[in-house]
Amino acid sequence: MSAAWSGRMVFIGAGNMAEAIIKGLLQAGWAAADRIRVTDVDAARLAHFAEAYQVGGLTDNVEAVSDAELVVLAVKPQGLLDVMRQLQPALTAQHLVLSIAAGIPTGAIEDAAGCSLRVVRAMPNTPALVGRGAAAICPGRWATAADLDVAERVLGAAGVVVRVAESQLDAVTAISGSGPAYVFYLMEAMQAAAAELGLDADTALRLIVATVGGSAALAEQRGEAPAVLRQRVTSKGGTTAAALAVLEEQGVRDRWVEAMRAAHRRAGELARGE
Ligand SMILES: NC(=O)c1ccc[n+]([C@@H]2O[C@H](COP(=O)([O-])OP(=O)(O)OC[C@H]3O[C@@H](n4cnc5c(N)ncnc54)[C@H](OP(=O)(O)O)[C@@H]3O)[C@@H](O)[C@H]2O)c1
Repeated sequence: MSAAWSGRMVFIGAGNMAEAIIKGLLQAGWAAADRIRVTDVDAARLAHFAEAYQVGGLTDNVEAVSDAELVVLAVKPQGLLDVMRQLQPALTAQHLVLSIAAGIPTGAIEDAAGCSLRVVRAMPNTPALVGRGAAAICPGRWATAADLDVAERVLGAAGVVVRVAESQLDAVTAISGSGPAYVFYLMEAMQAAAAELGLDADTALRLIVATVGGSAALAEQRGEAPAVLRQRVTSKGGTTAAALAVLEEQGVRDRWVEAMRAAHRRAGELARGE
């Protein structure tokens, strides 16, 4: 899987996620700009892709799909099935469709296609915008192992990719899809505490961003469990122990788990159109 992509790929929807993935693909050298095209309803987005990445753009989705082997569906979830209805006459079993739209099951995309369409569904997250994403992929009914390799390669340009069964995708949504917001929420609490304790806002933010990023890097590079890393910075009777004792007393860990259960429930409801 080290050779560059020799086929043609089109991104339907030239938004933030499409840009993050295309930027990564070009930087990694896995796809040349002339193998990629984007479509969008907004001509300004197409002009941006042409100028920034030398990637060609079209406004006609059907035309774009007709000469591509890989179709990345990168529009908002609420517009996805309309796009599929539009693409239906042009899509064949020769196409691989990679959908990054949250909450739309592979079955709904397959049903809208009306052929044995090879579909891979992904759940990415926003750090993909800076090449540090966490995405999970799952195959639809007709997707092959080679299709999963291609999807992994495409999304791998913008971060880490794992493979799961589609039944686990709501759990992925609850953990890593919504996950960046949990981290930002913690950062907000740290900002509030820093203000109360007399640090100026800019100084506090620099410390907080470096602390969160540095802690994640430590966990990544050491490969040790978060519990081990936490115990290592917690001396008996020390400052960290005093803080963690409050978190434990107040049941904060259980509340976090409860929050992720709520996200999981909501992901299921959204997938059922509720
Ligand atoms: N952003 C994230 O962190 C994130 C995380 C996980 C999953 N996702 C998924 O990734 C997908 C894309 O998200 P995004 O943040 O990149 O959205 P976005 O920035 O809004 O990009 C979507 C683009 O598609 C365009 N578009 C709308 N209808 C179209 C059509 N019929 N044909 C062609 N283009 C069309 C939109 O134009 P207009 O704006 O003019 O409508 C917009 O430029 C979503 O389905 C989302 O669920 C995103």
